[in-house]
Amino acid sequence: MNVLSTVSEVFPLIKTGGLADVAGALPKALRSHGILVSTLVPGYRAVLEHLPRRSPVARLDGLLGHDAVLSRAEADGLDLLVLEIPELYDRPGGPYLDGEGRDHPDNWLRFAAFSLAGARLALGEVLAVRADIVHVHDWQTALVPVYLRYAFRSSLPVVCTVHNLAFQGQFSFDIAGRLGLPDAAFGIECLEYYGGVGFLKGGLLSSDVVTTVSPTYAREILSPELGMGLDGVLQTRRSALYGIVNGIDSDIWNPASDPLVPRRYDARSLPRRQANRAAMLSHFGLGDAGGPLFAALTRLAWQKGADMIPDAAEEVVQHGGQFVVCGQGDAAIEDALRDCARRHPDRVAVHIGYSEELAHLIVSGCDVLVQPSRFEPCGLTQLYAMRYGAIPLVGRTGGLSETIIDANEAAMARAVATGFQFHPIEPHSFREAVRRACEAFEDREAWASLQRQAMKADFSWDRSAFQYAQLFEALQAAWQATAG
Ligand code: ADP
Ligand code: GLC
Repeated sequence: MNVLSTVSEVFPLIKTGGLADVAGALPKALRSHGILVSTLVPGYRAVLEHLPRRSPVARLDGLLGHDAVLSRAEADGLDLLVLEIPELYDRPGGPYLDGEGRDHPDNWLRFAAFSLAGARLALGEVLAVRADIVHVHDWQTALVPVYLRYAFRSSLPVVCTVHNLAFQGQFSFDIAGRLGLPDAAFGIECLEYYGGVGFLKGGLLSSDVVTTVSPTYAREILSPELGMGLDGVLQTRRSALYGIVNGIDSDIWNPASDPLVPRRYDARSLPRRQANRAAMLSHFGLGDAGGPLFAALTRLAWQKGADMIPDAAEEVVQHGGQFVVCGQGDAAIEDALRDCARRHPDRVAVHIGYSEELAHLIVSGCDVLVQPSRFEPCGLTQLYAMRYGAIPLVGRTGGLSETIIDANEAAMARAVATGFQFHPIEPHSFREAVRRACEAFEDREAWASLQRQAMKADFSWDRSAFQYAQLFEALQAAWQATAG
């Protein structure tokens, strides 16, 4: 079976978060199920630089007033299709934001044209591209099924995966006339959203199946608390809504073979981790205070509870620990973290920025990795942490609640615990969890057993890829039955 995955970021070409990791890993995992995925990505500057040897395959003209070259490349085990429209994608800044951190003003056009290209490719306009099913991700490609259903009258099966409901692609109604869609697409049963145009809403309502990245989040988004205004829409899709938990690329995230960590190790050679811990402290200009080394590796956003980190860091310091943060995002949170580091120069250090190397160093060296998310569709960092024997300390929500077993007394006694959870997701319970972790750290034997348990947890893609494969196969079978 051939699947066309349309996605706005894919590791290692371009990444702002977990979406890229998933888009990069799932196709490889699906191959052993007989599913061949081609991944369509926009020709951002970083993508073009990463793929100097791509070959042009076809021209795709008339994409909302823009003409494209479609090129193809094999890279890192992925079959990549690059949509090259230089005036839309080849520019400074990131995939969604300009150099000043503002949305590119034409994001609606950039991703509508991209989605239209995805729909046309899925329908076979370019012979070299085949698709039995289209897999779209988040609002950026949610218009693919809208174009298929409304512009081309096609019922080709589409799976729409929601990685984060907080981002919905809502725009003013003024753009409606420029999307190349018939009026019918702008009704309440598709794109119309409180007087504007909602890309994700249209995608949720025009796809055969909606998935999200953990079963818990699939339930949570049906409620007004976490439905972000789309819970009513999702309720109507309840029977077609599934949660499939993300896996991790266990080749890239493997402490026994990771080229980005100073000293490689596995569960049987845990003491070697000390060398990475020392390297991490020295990278951040800290001496070893002897207590637990906490870290956060995250977008500095409200979603991630990053605004609560300075307060938790105070608690860590009071317990003799140290805290290192690597992240970027909200300017107020960045400032608060810098202030915290200034108050405790020997205990707290902050790197404002994005660094793949540091990410690997941190999970291989820290003792506790915090993720105090207020909501978390799945979360990957806690999975990487566990694989590297760093103990996650997380808010009990979404994917975090189901991927970690809290180190309560019973779980510790049965040696099944893999981390610390707290609830409600507020500073006082975050602090309480920090205290629990600091106390647990004092019993080094029990801590090592917690680490081994975390490292044993299996979050490889095998099981989840199988679930996607079953879903794709069922959709294909149903479609073939109706088609003929
Ligand atoms: P989200 O996609 O919501 O940001 P995830 O946990 O799914 O959350 O994925 C985050 C990804 O981004 C992980 O691969 C994590 O290692 C990476 N990451 C987050 N912040 C940084 C950073 N400052 N530097 C490097 N990698 C980061
Ligand atoms: C989103 C979510 C995160 C999830 C990732 C990959 O960015 O915030 O929880 O792990 O997508 O699915």
